[in-house]
Amino acid sequence: MPEKQIVSMNCGKIDPDNIDTHIDQGGFKALQKSLEKMTPEDIINEIKTSELKGRGGAGFLCGTKWELARKAGENQKYLICNADESEVGTFKDRHLLAKDPFTLIEGIAITAYAIGAQTAFIYLRAEYHFLLDLLTNAIEQAKEKGFLKHLAVQIREGAGAYICGEESALMNSIEGRRGESRYKPPFPTEKGLFDKPTIINNVETLMNVPQIILNGGEWFKTIGTGNSRGTKVFSISGDVEKPGVYELEMGSPVKELVVTLAGAKNIKAVQVGGASGSIIPFDQLDTPLSFETLLGSGGVIVFNNERDITDMVHQSMIFLSEESCGKCTPCREGTEVMIEIFRRLEIGEGVPEDMENLEALSEAMMLSSLCGLGQAAPIPVLDSLKYFRSEYEDRIEKSQILRRLPRSIA
Ligand SMILES: Cc1cc2nc3c(=O)[nH]c(=O)nc-3n(C[C@H](O)[C@H](O)[C@H](O)COP(=O)(O)O)c2cc1C
Repeated sequence: MPEKQIVSMNCGKIDPDNIDTHIDQGGFKALQKSLEKMTPEDIINEIKTSELKGRGGAGFLCGTKWELARKAGENQKYLICNADESEVGTFKDRHLLAKDPFTLIEGIAITAYAIGAQTAFIYLRAEYHFLLDLLTNAIEQAKEKGFLKHLAVQIREGAGAYICGEESALMNSIEGRRGESRYKPPFPTEKGLFDKPTIINNVETLMNVPQIILNGGEWFKTIGTGNSRGTKVFSISGDVEKPGVYELEMGSPVKELVVTLAGAKNIKAVQVGGASGSIIPFDQLDTPLSFETLLGSGGVIVFNNERDITDMVHQSMIFLSEESCGKCTPCREGTEVMIEIFRRLEIGEGVPEDMENLEALSEAMMLSSLCGLGQAAPIPVLDSLKYFRSEYEDRIEKSQILRRLPRSIA
């Protein structure tokens, strides 16, 4: 079977409202091992050995990040679980939270112990309000069982903005300020939430931790490929027969997820990583899903042969422009200018320079935007120009024909 479950191994097997069903499956054994037999440094070393990388999009090595926070000379430290999940087509964290909140709480409890945080926040996407009671109940049950003696876990509901998933905007949001990215440095491990050392990790990242503690970093390293260890949880939607959430070993070909599991047919392109994710054409479905090639947030959208690529990129850009916090000019203005070019292409007013202008603007945005939103926004633009250039050329040619027609006919 192409699926390999580590993070989602308890999903569907336990009752998310009842901690005893989780304990019956071996739940909280990793926390007990951590607190009774391991020092915080032991845990960090195990995570470093595992080479676990963040699953929220940036793919930063967890052990390295945790060590920086651990060594930061402050008494007060924070852990934040990023459950904002607002990327287009991404719903794998929703699935994990709804089906198995206890593994997340266990991962949070181990991580907080390792870095020396006494308070952890779960920043929950505003639209996931329906999960609030379930999560609150899971935290209460973990407390009653005595698993959270070293830690206060609090939930903060999100502000309803995609940018609030970006770690520095997220911290602003928890602090009650406008959700805007911060300049870096200082990095959160040094000066994060309320100016204290802070670790921010994605839901899926934290849910890997218990199994690494139980089975060891070396075990985890044997799964996956190259510099991408372990598995990845994907949410897949679009032109597929079986949309949903699937967990695969890192390095699995795109085809396995899209065709074998999700049953896609007549594929034209696949976008991996949401609105600002990479676009790959049909003839590259053997591309491995890994940090070295493409991954992002884990949201995969399939487009069949009837889809128009320029229109699809246009729609992505509208989303990104609306969600830009507006703090930096390249992202705020760049996304607007791109929308204007796509709008002209669509209504038959494209000009040959549009393609070069999109490429030049992409380069400028990637180099000079303040955060990942503006830096990644041009990725689908560049990919579509690379693989589907003829669709742009067709639109421009049609525009030229229209321009030559007498006004009364055009
Ligand atoms: C615009 C934008 C939105 C983001 N949204 C999320 C999100 O919803 N969830 C998430 O875990 N990371 C998100 N990230 C990445 C976070 O900034 C950060 O890298 C991540 O939470 C770190 O956790 P990890 O190391 O476990 O991946 C976003 C980044 C950007 C630029």
